[in-house]
Amino acid sequence: MKPLVFEAKNLVREFGHGKQKTIAVNQANFKIEEGNVYAIVGESGSGKTTTAKMLLGLLKTSSGVLNFYDKPLQLKNHKDRVAYWQQVQAIFQDPFSSFNQFYKVQDLLLNCLVMKGEKLSKEASYARMSTACQYVNLDLKELWNKHPFELSGGQMQRLMIARIFLIHPKVLIADEPTSMIDACSRATILDMLMKLREDIGMTIIFITHDIGLAYYVADELFIMENGLIVEQGDARKIIENPTAQYTKHLLTDVPTIHHPWLTELD
Ligand SMILES: Nc1ncnc2c1ncn2[C@@H]1O[C@H](COP(=O)(O)OP(=O)(O)OP(=O)(O)O)[C@@H](O)[C@H]1O
Ligand SMILES: [Mg+2]
Repeated sequence: MKPLVFEAKNLVREFGHGKQKTIAVNQANFKIEEGNVYAIVGESGSGKTTTAKMLLGLLKTSSGVLNFYDKPLQLKNHKDRVAYWQQVQAIFQDPFSSFNQFYKVQDLLLNCLVMKGEKLSKEASYARMSTACQYVNLDLKELWNKHPFELSGGQMQRLMIARIFLIHPKVLIADEPTSMIDACSRATILDMLMKLREDIGMTIIFITHDIGLAYYVADELFIMENGLIVEQGDARKIIENPTAQYTKHLLTDVPTIHHPWLTELD
């Protein structure tokens, strides 16, 4: 068996108290093995981002166990967090709140190389940054000296993905990473990420409401409904033979995924 990156046992996250209480993640149990690609799939409010934030150490757990390589995930201080985020990186659903708006694009990218501790010449840094931008169809020259607030949502999301090509994290948690990118570029960018994953053995947790997209990228699916993981396992098996009512419901929205198999079976 591959090493376990994460293991969650009866993981719970609640918000609010009394009548206002929301159980965003309810007794979740899952294992994330090194090098695999997982997708957490569910409709809005099902607890996907809350799960991601706990894995990133951005939200405390209410109860249960959350292990990172067999030890409880505990980030006590800034130093712990920086060390952790060198290994575990995120692409967020909302790119607007993810960048320090005071930095210029080139400084945001350069910081990724600095964070990796890479000592490169100016020219070599530029070349690395420019290539990372090309992977996500951005032109570094065009973005030079711009601040994040001067970019479109799609450009910001591309910039967030470009960082991954510089940082090469061990684990990537991607929360609706292409929600603002047109369908045409989306497939290319996802393919580039998958290629990077193969090259460096990155573990990916991909979060989406789109079960078709999840099937496209992931080996294993976690289907979440109202904070509960209602079904989990091999992506192909789940798509071909969903057991939970909720999974069947998600699949009715994307008839195109099972269509070719139905014809294969006929
Ligand atoms: N900071 C918070 N305070 C109070 N409630 C919250 C907070 N964050 C999330 N919730 C609640 O927890 C539940 C799960 O939210 P979460 O953001 O994890 O959903 P999601 O699956 O990511 O949805 P979406 O697809 O819309 O991004 C929702 O009911 C939400 O209102
Ligand atoms: Mg979310």
